[in-house]
Amino acid sequence: MCGIFGYVGNKNAVDIILNGLTNLEYRGYDSAGIATISDGSLQIRKSIGKLNNLYKNIKKYPLSYTNIGIGHTRWATHGKPYKKNAHPHVDSKKNIAIVHNGIIENNVELRKEFAEKGYHFVSETDSEVIIPLIKENYRDGIANTLEYILPLIKGSYAIGIICRFEDSKIVCTKKDIPLIIGIGENENFISSDIYALLMYTRNLIFLEDGDIAEISKNKILIKDSNGIEKKLNIKNIKWKFNKISKTNYKHFMIKEIFEQPFSVLNTITNITYKNTKNEICIKEKIFFNQEFIKNIKNIYVVACGTSYYAGLISKFWFEHFTNIPTIVDIASEFRYREPILNNKTLVIVISQSGETADTIAALKLANDKNCKTVAICNVVGSSISIYAKHTIYTCCGIEIGVASTKAFTSQLVVLFTFALNYAYKIDTVKYSTLVTFLKELSEIPLKIKQCLKNNNFIKKLAKKFLYYKNFLFLGRYLNYPVALEGALKLKEVSYIHAEGCATGEIKHGTIALIDKNVPVIVIAIKDKVYKKTISNIEEIKARGAIVITIATECDYEIKNKSDYVIYIPKVNELLTPILTVIPTQLLAYYIANLLKYDVDKPRNLAKAVTVE
Ligand code: G6P
Repeated sequence: MCGIFGYVGNKNAVDIILNGLTNLEYRGYDSAGIATISDGSLQIRKSIGKLNNLYKNIKKYPLSYTNIGIGHTRWATHGKPYKKNAHPHVDSKKNIAIVHNGIIENNVELRKEFAEKGYHFVSETDSEVIIPLIKENYRDGIANTLEYILPLIKGSYAIGIICRFEDSKIVCTKKDIPLIIGIGENENFISSDIYALLMYTRNLIFLEDGDIAEISKNKILIKDSNGIEKKLNIKNIKWKFNKISKTNYKHFMIKEIFEQPFSVLNTITNITYKNTKNEICIKEKIFFNQEFIKNIKNIYVVACGTSYYAGLISKFWFEHFTNIPTIVDIASEFRYREPILNNKTLVIVISQSGETADTIAALKLANDKNCKTVAICNVVGSSISIYAKHTIYTCCGIEIGVASTKAFTSQLVVLFTFALNYAYKIDTVKYSTLVTFLKELSEIPLKIKQCLKNNNFIKKLAKKFLYYKNFLFLGRYLNYPVALEGALKLKEVSYIHAEGCATGEIKHGTIALIDKNVPVIVIAIKDKVYKKTISNIEEIKARGAIVITIATECDYEIKNKSDYVIYIPKVNELLTPILTVIPTQLLAYYIANLLKYDVDKPRNLAKAVTVE
């Protein structure tokens, strides 16, 4: 939700900030803006819609050459995506410009207070209250003023500020929202994520909640929430970083779908190794020591969106392998009910971005209750990885497409090995079983490759079903969550209504929807519920449904029961979700692409949801 990028140095700030915003656009694309200081004056450009419009605006109305500025790409929370609501916000005298990511929860009270004092608000945003807060409380520089006003702000924020009276520095702060400083040579940066920085520098400072930083081209001064100067904690990021590019693909989403044989392999390689007997084993340090999981009585898995569906699948694995009761919860629900949490509870949070506000809140709640907390996350240094007691990374590389695909399959790999290794540690799984499953898992990347060979067939199916208004996705057992994920994917990118349902449950209501206008995608692989699924297919066929099955290779009988069949390779039934999801991703992509939607940036969505 909203991306912030700032630059101060010797180079052309406008180009660098626009480039930074391009890499952050996945966080929001309702509007974008930039503020710079040139010859002691603030210059502002804002455009509604995608970043491309800001590029065009600046081309038409160029900004003077400058070495300092801040930029923002917005995902609207308060106020529609109008130009007046786009950031940066400035005061009437054009002395200061601010960018904000997060939500100022007491903005209504603050707006009222300042409006009564005669302040004229230009926008409908919560963010704009920062301007009168600074003006009314100004004391000896922006940083000092910020120190004074932060206790007056309730909510979450990453804030970047430039002021024409302090024209060689950016002042910034954060609470519950990421903000990272990149340190270059005679130049420094601020950014909402690491990736936008890595092409400039690998030396980063992860600001902590309450920190206030003053950043000039040669100097960084950080004070903590008590106003005490901090030693700079500079982290050098060593991991390999490939330039973000669609290569020959039309969209990131399809590129990321096709990357899955490699992203899953990377994730497996990060977790496992081959011993001298050529057996695949778990790298112990990736997981946790015996002490950490001692006496765990219950497990909660908490996440949002696609990560939540990965969590739902993991319930089967944890309960199957460890015999420990496992509850899977949506983070925004978990945080407001009264989950039974104590030091015998293991709470696993899953988040691709590591920045989802509800998941962070759930994690903090679990930490407060003294639970053992583990994060499964794709972004090194993200908030979730900092707050969790232990983090396991999905090594699938940066995911740009807003609709998550490759992160999901890597999350499944981590969760599967997690459950398996856990069970081995507590003696509910034998060494031989562990090794057999790990061997089977190691074959998954090749099997995903095989699933992707359905590409052309699925493209044809997409053409056929393009204009249908409703879809149903059905799955049982481990593939029920895949049905939910398949429906979510289609909704996210094609804006077609789709519902995921447990196959056995449709007769309790959803079957009323079935007629020839509702294509039904049924996951009907050869698992222990196969026969039951076949009976359910009969029931929906009898009511005129068009049935597309996702079935196990060589299951020729299913052809008689389906209008179309998509085959996936044979695999142990516990691992099927990593394969059955692939056709659903392809179908969603091709339908959305044929409908000519902006697949990577679906309307109203954002990749990192940093607000409640
Ligand atoms: C957003 C994204 C989804 C994602 C969800 C959870 O809604 O659009 O693709 O699944 O957030 O994100 P996380 O980063 O916590 O996995």
